[in-house]
Amino acid sequence: MDRSSSKKLSSKEKKLKRKEELDRKKAIDEVIRMAYAKEDHLSEFPAFLTYQRSGLNLIMQPQSGETLPAPLKRYIQALLKENMEGPYGSEWPAEEKVKKREMVASEARYIIVRQLVEDPEKHDGLWRDGGDPVVSFVQFRFLIDEEIPVLYVYELQLEKCVQKKGLGKFLMQLLELVARKNNMKAVLLTVQKRNLAAMAFYSKLKYVVSSISPSRVDPLIGAEKNYEILCKTFDPEAKAKLEVRKIKLDRSIENAAL
Ligand SMILES: CC(C)(COP(=O)(O)OP(=O)(O)OC[C@H]1O[C@@H](n2cnc3c(N)ncnc32)[C@H](O)[C@@H]1OP(=O)(O)O)[C@@H](O)C(=O)NCCC(=O)NCCS
Repeated sequence: MDRSSSKKLSSKEKKLKRKEELDRKKAIDEVIRMAYAKEDHLSEFPAFLTYQRSGLNLIMQPQSGETLPAPLKRYIQALLKENMEGPYGSEWPAEEKVKKREMVASEARYIIVRQLVEDPEKHDGLWRDGGDPVVSFVQFRFLIDEEIPVLYVYELQLEKCVQKKGLGKFLMQLLELVARKNNMKAVLLTVQKRNLAAMAFYSKLKYVVSSISPSRVDPLIGAEKNYEILCKTFDPEAKAKLEVRKIKLDRSIENAAL
């Protein structure tokens, strides 16, 4: 084989690689599209629609950011303020605005947790709008990170009265089931470094600091940031991209080969 034919072959190879890459991207986009096409991500897990442990009697309901009723918007903002003002410190006013926008995004999906009580009037939590009081909520999205389809937990918020009763773990287990059922390869989330209770909770649930977390990308940048990105991966590719740190040189060699 002369030099020119070997060159031709390699350009064919490059073309093929590009096509494969494009097909891969299209397939991942389709996974995300399919996940969002489902209206209710919870009904597939009937055992997770109620929570009757530790004296709690709770139900889980699905909800979308676009159709969030005003009482739920008020509640979500109140609970976020109560739980997160401390961990965010002086960054809270700016963060509160970001969270207000994120709350109603069309991609936002929720698990709304209501407590079944005999007399809702006697409930003294943050819920102010009648009916079975809401005591907790989760906001999640399906998105692509490092070319991996992931379920990203935007919020996991429990009122004090339902904390430390296994509910947080139960909701994370449900999210992991939703992720797997919808072909996501990992669960990702962001946690404030100052939120030591949440750090301990996620560590107990076997979440690890992701290789895309600022502290793992560059310790100097990490030291300036107040948060870590944590993950739990479900397959070797996701593990390689989101858990194990990739050497930059490898990436530039890979890119050069395309
Ligand atoms: C953090 C939070 C989600 C945890 O949920 P929870 O229902 O209170 O926790 P659980 O009862 O399910 O605990 C699960 C496990 O984590 C451990 N854990 C929970 N909180 C802990 C803490 N503060 N310190 C150490 N371990 C903790 C529990 O001991 C339990 O371990 P086990 O399975 O061996 O019994 C909840 O307390 C909360 O909403 N906090 C305020 C908002 C917040 O910080 N959200 C997270 C933002 S990223």
